[in-house]
Amino acid sequence: MSDLQVRRVRFDLAGDDIPFNWNPQRPAFAMQCNLITFFAPGFEKLIVDATREAIPLMRDQKQADEANDYLRQEAQHSAAHMSHVRALVRRWPGLQETMDEVIASYDRLTATKPLAWRLAYTAVIENTFTPYFKVFLDHEDKLFALGDERVASLFLWHFVEEIEHRSSALMVYDAVHGDFLYRVKTIGAVVKHLGEVLSIVSRGFQKHVPADDGGGYGQLLPDGLRVRSMLAASRTARRITRPGQGTYAGVPKRDMIAMLSGLVRSQGPSHDPAFENLPPFAARWFERYEQEPKSAARWYSVGAPI
Ligand SMILES: [Fe+2]
Ligand SMILES: [Fe+2]
Repeated sequence: MSDLQVRRVRFDLAGDDIPFNWNPQRPAFAMQCNLITFFAPGFEKLIVDATREAIPLMRDQKQADEANDYLRQEAQHSAAHMSHVRALVRRWPGLQETMDEVIASYDRLTATKPLAWRLAYTAVIENTFTPYFKVFLDHEDKLFALGDERVASLFLWHFVEEIEHRSSALMVYDAVHGDFLYRVKTIGAVVKHLGEVLSIVSRGFQKHVPADDGGGYGQLLPDGLRVRSMLAASRTARRITRPGQGTYAGVPKRDMIAMLSGLVRSQGPSHDPAFENLPPFAARWFERYEQEPKSAARWYSVGAPI
C-alpha cells in the first residue's frame, strides 16, 4: 500500500441528457474538458500498460506499491471518462468514431514504442499536470461551478487525483530508465502526438455534433498544435464567443504566467513534483470526500457548505 487512495466514484452520467456544451457560459473551457474526456482513455490505457510492464523491473517495493496504486487510479479515471464518452455517444453516435481514432493512435504507440519511451511520454505529460490543473482548481468557482454539476464533478475528482499522484510517473520512469536527456528528447515527439490527438478531437466534434447542439464550438479547439491552427482557433473564438468567454477569462495574468513557467520548469533535470505549489482546493476536496464520499459525484450539492 502507498499513500495514494484508489477511489471508486459512481458518477451520474447514465442519463440521455448530458449536454455537449456542459458549461454554456464557458464554451471554450467546456471544450477543453471534453477534449480531456476523449484524450484520457487512450492516454491512461498507455499508462496502465506501460506501468504494468515497468513494475517487475522495479527493485524498491515501496515504489512498486505506489506504481500499482497509481495505475489503479488511472484505470478508474479511464473508466469514468468512458462513461462520459458513452453518454455523449448515446446522443451523437458519430463521436464513437472519434474515440476509436484516439484509442487507435495510443495503441499504435504501445505497439511500436519501447517501454522507456512510453514511460518518458507519460512522465513528460504527467509532470505538466500540477501547474496546469492548479489554475483550473484555484479558479474552480469561475471555471466549473456554473456548469453541469455531473460533468464538473467528474473533472474535479480527476484533477485532484492527478495532483495526488503527481510524483508517480516520474518516479516510475526514474526507477526503470532514469535518463534525463532521453526524457527531454521525447518532448518533441510528445508535442507532435498531442497535436495529432487534438486534431482528431477538434475535427470529430465539428463533424459529429450538430451546430445546434454546440458542435461548432469544436472549432475553439485548434486543429493540431501548429501556430497556424492555433491562430485560426483564436480568430474563430473572437467570432463565435462573447467577451469574457475565453478559456481562462477572469484568471489573473500572474496565475497564467505562473502556469507557463511551471510547465517549463516541470521538464527540468532536478524537477521534483513532490515540492510543487499545490492548489488549496485539492486538500479541501480530499477532506470533504473523507466526511462524505458521495460529494465526489455531486460536488456542488452534496456536503457543500451552505
Ligand atoms: Fe488520470
Ligand atoms: Fe495521472
